[in-house]
Amino acid sequence: MQRLSESLLHLARTGVDLRDPKLEVVDLDGVAKDATERMRPLAESTGFGLRAEGNGGRVWADHEWLEQALLVVLGNAIQHSEHEGEVRLFAEGGAVMVEDEGAGISETDLPYVFERFYRGKRSSEGFGLGLAICKDLVERMGGSISLESKEGVGTKVKIELPEIDAGAEDTDS
Ligand SMILES: Nc1ncnc2c1ncn2[C@@H]1O[C@H](COP(=O)(O)OP(=O)(O)O)[C@@H](O)[C@H]1O
Ligand SMILES: [Mg+2]
Repeated sequence: MQRLSESLLHLARTGVDLRDPKLEVVDLDGVAKDATERMRPLAESTGFGLRAEGNGGRVWADHEWLEQALLVVLGNAIQHSEHEGEVRLFAEGGAVMVEDEGAGISETDLPYVFERFYRGKRSSEGFGLGLAICKDLVERMGGSISLESKEGVGTKVKIELPEIDAGAEDTDS
């Protein structure tokens, strides 16, 4: 976690990561599982259920960036859930979703959550950079990120990346 925060702060100061993304074929279920396992100690220490289900495909992504983006989103889900419910991560094709049953985001905060330094009224400890950085990383990999939330119900974040069509590599023609 320490290493992650340092690199996030570096990103925040410089505005952009120094290097270009190293795009490669990434197995979405594998990255999702790694990120979930890295967050498990935090989830367990706060008394959460953390569940990962995989039906993801292969995508073009920078493995490290994608894992970092998932850690931010999972961290938010855990942080803003106030010990309630379950955090669920599931992958489907080229998309990965993180859902929580936490406090949710008010309609007034919702349009600004991807802005740098924007912290909602429920923000506990962050700098308001997590989602802004996620958006940068995901978009620089050619993907997109969206968030749906309802106050008192929960939040769902979806990250979509260019999926590599099954069998595309096997055709020589
Ligand atoms: N899963 C979530 N549940 C409730 N609120 C969230 C969630 N994720 C993000 N937010 C809201 O969006 C704001 C911006 O998120 P983020 O960019 O990660 O900044 P922070 O550093 O405050 O976590 C947070 O301050 C919080 O109000
Ligand atoms: Mg955050």
